[in-house]
This record gives sequence, C-alpha cells and structure tokens, in this order.
Amino acid sequence: MKRLQIVAVADEQLEDCIIVLAEKEQISSLKQLLTTDEMSFVERMAAEEVGQFFFPRAQGAVLVRMIKPEQDEYVAIEATRLAGNSTLAELRQYKIDRVTVRNLCTRNLALAFVEGMALGSYQFQKHLSKVSPKDKNLREIRVEPSTATAADVEELNHIVELVFETRDLVNEPFSHQSSVQFAQSIAALGEKYGFETDILGREKIESLKMGGLISVNKGSQEPPRFAVLEWKPANARNEEPLVFVGKGVVYDTGGLSLKPTDGMDYMKCDMAGGAAVACTLALAAATRQPVYLVGLVPITDNVVGNQSFAPGDVITMYSGKTVEVMNTDAEGRLILADALHYARKYNPALVIDVATLTGGAVRTFGSQASCYMGTANERIKKALEHSGMVTYERLWELPLFKEYAEDLKSCVADIKNLGSASAGTIVAGKFLENFVDYPWLHIDIAGPAYLRSGNGYRTKEGSGVGVRLLYHFLKTFSIHHNE
Ligand code: BES
Ligand code: ZN
Ligand code: ZN
Repeated sequence: MKRLQIVAVADEQLEDCIIVLAEKEQISSLKQLLTTDEMSFVERMAAEEVGQFFFPRAQGAVLVRMIKPEQDEYVAIEATRLAGNSTLAELRQYKIDRVTVRNLCTRNLALAFVEGMALGSYQFQKHLSKVSPKDKNLREIRVEPSTATAADVEELNHIVELVFETRDLVNEPFSHQSSVQFAQSIAALGEKYGFETDILGREKIESLKMGGLISVNKGSQEPPRFAVLEWKPANARNEEPLVFVGKGVVYDTGGLSLKPTDGMDYMKCDMAGGAAVACTLALAAATRQPVYLVGLVPITDNVVGNQSFAPGDVITMYSGKTVEVMNTDAEGRLILADALHYARKYNPALVIDVATLTGGAVRTFGSQASCYMGTANERIKKALEHSGMVTYERLWELPLFKEYAEDLKSCVADIKNLGSASAGTIVAGKFLENFVDYPWLHIDIAGPAYLRSGNGYRTKEGSGVGVRLLYHFLKTFSIHHNE
C-alpha cells in the first residue's frame, strides 16, 4: 500500500474535507466557512473546552480543530502533535482518506499538527493475509501555505517516511529478518537515499578480531554483519565526522543466559538503535544536510546454539581488552564496544551510540524518556537535550561516577560485562566508556523504542524513536559544539 503523502497546495484549492486550526480568539474568522448556527455552536462549545467540531457538507466536510495555547513551547508543540493524532482518529470514523489543512494559528504549531496526524497514521499490515476494506486510513494531507511552506512540507514528508521505515524495520519479526537480511535492508536504504554503505561480512569481522561481535554471534546459524555507513557531502561544515553507532541485535533470546518468554516476546526490537542510525543517515541524505556523518551498526542475533559463548568465558575484544562474560544477555555492550573502538579511526568530532541496552532504562523512565550519559561537554549535552525536547523524544542524563567502575572489576580479565544488581543502566554505560577516547554520548532507548500499546502518534510496537531526535541534533550540530 502506498505510504501517506503530505502535499503542499495553493490556497484556492477546493477540497473534500477541510481542517481548520484555530485558537479561541480566532473563532470569528470561521464565519466564511460555517453557518450562523454552526458558529454559535462552536462558540458555546469552545467556551467549554471542547476541542474539535465536525460539520458534514453536501460535498466533503469542515472540521474545526481548536488549538489550546500553552505556556511552555515544547509542551505546546507536543500537545498539537497529539491533537493531530486525535483528529486522525475522528477522520477514521468518517472514513475520510484525504484532507486539506488550513491554519489560523502560528506556523510551527500547524506543522506539528500535520506531523502528529501523519505519524499516527502508521500501520504495520505486511503480515496480515487480509486487510479489511473498512480500515480506511488517511492517504493524503494537503497543506495550504497558511500551514507550512513547500520546503517544510518536503522535509516533513522525508521525516515521516523515515520514521515509518524505522518502525517497519523494528516491527519485522525475527522469522523474516535475520542479521543478513537486516544488513541488506540497510544497504538498500543507502542505494535509495544516496549514502555510502559498506557491509562487512564474517571474514572481515574475523580478520579485524572483533571479539565482542564474534562471541555474541557464536551460537547463531547466521553470520554477523558490520554495517559502515557514510554521508559525506562536498559542502560538509565539519571535517571530523559525527558518528552514530546503533545496536543491531536482530533478536535477543539472552543466549545461554536465556530470557523468560515474558521478556523475550518483543526482543525483535533489539535492533531499534541500528534502525534509527541507518534511517537518520537516510534522512540526512534525503534532505542533503551539509554535515559529515558516519553510521556504524554491528549486527547479529543472540541465540542459543551448540557453539554459544557461555557465562564464565573470557573474550578478547576488538580493542584488545579482555572481558569476562558473566551473563550472555548483556550482549549489546559487547558488540557496541567493538563498534565504538572502530569509530576511533575517524578521529570523530563526536560519537553518539543508540541502543536498547538495559531493562533498567525501562524501569527508570518507562517509555517517556531515554537515559543518556557520556563524556561529551556540557554544550553538546544541552544541545542534545534541547533536540530531545523539541522532538519530544526526551532524554535525561545519568551520572558516570567513577565509583561505578568498581562494579566491573574482574579477577580473570580486564573487566566483566556485568556489575551487581543495582544501577544496571549506568554500569552498562560505564562498560562502554572503556572503549572510547573521544567525546561520546550513549543513549539507552530501551524504554521508548518499543510500545506494547500505542501512545498518541507513537503507534504500538516499534516507535521509531531516535530518528527525529538525531536528525534535529545533526541539523544544529556544528564544530563550535566542541569548543
Ligand atoms: N536487549 C536487552 C535490554 C532490553 C530490555 C531492551 C527491555 C528492550 C527492552 C539487553 O540485551 C539485556 O538483556 N539487558 C539485560 C542485561 C542484564 C542481564 C545484565 C538487562 O538489562 O536486563
Ligand atoms: Zn540481552
Ligand atoms: Zn539486547
């Protein structure tokens, strides 16, 4: 089925369903569109905080959506995205698949409304043998100049397209997405959007001695992959790249430290960081951002086999450090550590890794925010937090106190891959810190990456978290961040 399209149209176009966005003070400007009775109805109901009115016409309809002003700008934008999603629910009831959005409020709010409506329209129906024709979904959002410029519309189209792509990749079950297939999908994104991809296979990974990735892969029927992505436009404003690293575990059973079914059923989401990184590069390429970017995605499953790596094993990582494996379910940090070491060769301006790394991150913020931590300077941290607020893919910093490193001490190897029962999210970050020697941030997206039930425009299962965040961040990223 064709994906939803957002299209810029000229003012005068007559449409079947017109959505008018208005604040309370602007109700009088609705006169041209509504009858006297409808006007007084809207006035009465708006006074009682009713948010949405639907008026059928002989041909088409008029839907008035009240936008409530909020003090905090971040909250206002998010509320408007959510308003877009709830309008979408109304449209579904009336089986409307095409709308035109006219705006009487401020521009950035209107764009947020369209974004929420578009993102909420996502459905993952690939594996349904029959899709009910009753499930009519929004296909086209026409946007008048009062709502957004043609350039805004084009950018938003790409954002929506690549959030959907991320969700598709996360939602694809393990039965249909092996390590090899996930790597192929990433290479296909490179082809489609015009960034470079180099997919390293088993031989190359072995010759590089990426011990973390090789160990996690040992129980598998499928070979590992290491995806190296690059977007390097001639007009890039940075010489040293901004590197994104994404965890690409296509399925996490826990390995020999096997998970119970309850926590395993949704572990197809364990490549959400890798998908977000690949789709962020695609989005940067689609919109031709003047930023030099590298993406690194170590890819494998973590399953049980007769060759599986085992608790008690000592492995030698790509960096040369040795690790005592205490728990094979703490596999993400092992493959990320190799990727973080690989990132050194770029002399990066900044490295950000994105991973569904710990259950502790889910327990800390649920799906409302990601935990983050790292060694980059305050200016970079604030810029990332700001991007988190603007996109409402919020993050909150956890400390990398040196005392937490004690937890990782081992008598048989340089470090262990697991600490004590407490502060698991921080200790995972502390583990990764052993493999970086450049400004670095680690984002644990385990909470928001996968939703058991939908939450507004964040549809259920894969949420696509990370793409809007990293894209906003890379647009604001400049070399000055490092000063
Ligand atoms: N992939 C999981 C983390 C996870 C949990 C992702 C929930 C998404 C939702 C990770 O590999 C893992 O198993 N972490 C364990 C590590 C533990 C055994 C040290 C955890 O945090 O529970
Ligand atoms: Zn695990
Ligand atoms: Zn995992």
